[in-house]
Amino acid sequence: MSKTTRIAVTGAAGQIGYAMLFRIASGEMLGAQHGIDLRLLEIPPAMDALRGVVMELEDCAFPLLENVVPTTDPNEAFADVDIALLVGARPRGAGMERKDLLEANGAIFTTQGKALSDNASRDVRVLVVGNPANTNCLIAVNNAKTLASNQFTAMTILDHHRAVAQLAQKTRAHVQDVRNLAIWGNHSSTMFPELHSATVKGIDALDLVTMNWYTDEFIPCVQQRGAQIIQAKGTSSAASAANAAIDHMRYWCTESPGTTSMSIVSQGEYGIESGLVFSYPIVCHGGQIDVIQDRVLDDFAQQRIKLTEQELIEERDAIRHLL
Ligand code: NAD
Ligand code: LMR
Repeated sequence: MSKTTRIAVTGAAGQIGYAMLFRIASGEMLGAQHGIDLRLLEIPPAMDALRGVVMELEDCAFPLLENVVPTTDPNEAFADVDIALLVGARPRGAGMERKDLLEANGAIFTTQGKALSDNASRDVRVLVVGNPANTNCLIAVNNAKTLASNQFTAMTILDHHRAVAQLAQKTRAHVQDVRNLAIWGNHSSTMFPELHSATVKGIDALDLVTMNWYTDEFIPCVQQRGAQIIQAKGTSSAASAANAAIDHMRYWCTESPGTTSMSIVSQGEYGIESGLVFSYPIVCHGGQIDVIQDRVLDDFAQQRIKLTEQELIEERDAIRHLL
């Protein structure tokens, strides 16, 4: 084992936390070279449940798991952490949009942004999962005055995986045959799952499906998948979200298998307003996240991208007092 990695998980007793922690502790996120030191943050009413989770982690006798600290104090949870997975936040119920959670969840990310800034490793990598993920990430990064904006990301890989799976099913291909698809914008019902550069077995995706399927079935299906899951099972996605968070961090720390999608703090790429937390086509290598810069976007794509950018501007304007 070469190194111990300290990982904070917030909302550790919640359903995503439960689906994520055992996989992290087994080495699925960072590989067998990294010992794992877990810092688990919860609110006081969830501490009994968290104690149960810690007992179960102990009972797995994971060879890589060196230490587990449950706490209600963000300063303790984030002390010297290399990775922070910010999951803890209220999930939406049926009939809600994710942005309806801004008021309930926004303040969490003010406190946690400051606590990361004051306590985390100077190289910390932060992933925001709690909804509305992009704007919560915007709040966190703006409150983390001593950290750089490229240390903060929000999760849209789940949407990327959903889009890949839908296209693979439609074209009777394997998910690994799908390349270069991308999710643009907000993790919300305005996100734009883009197929203009996507290929299946090397063939342009848009030569394999009709424009009607693309606009009337595929895009709404990916945009509404989270809501469909809530309607079907009564609670929001958990195992697939945990899986996406693990992939996001593994790709960021190592490399991505080709193009993926992540929300990052925009530097104005593709004309998007700088500072917004926006999902782009991404490639990761050498521990870095790079936006793929040479996508050709037709009028349809540009319109969709403007729509989701506009929603992020409105969300930002609604929480300006937290920045
Ligand atoms: P959950 O209700 O099962 O768990 C959330 C946990 O967070 C609870 O245990 C709660 O006690 C804890 N928590 C609340 N406030 C906290 C705080 N200030 N500090 C630490 N912990 C706190 O919810 P879940 O299903 O695990 O979902 C968590 C969040 O992730 C929700 O906001 C959900 O909408 C979001 N989510 C995002 C994506 C994505 O793709 N970005 C996917 C799925 C879910
Ligand atoms: C999802 O996409 O599954 C999550 O963001 C949960 C939700 O509220 O849809």
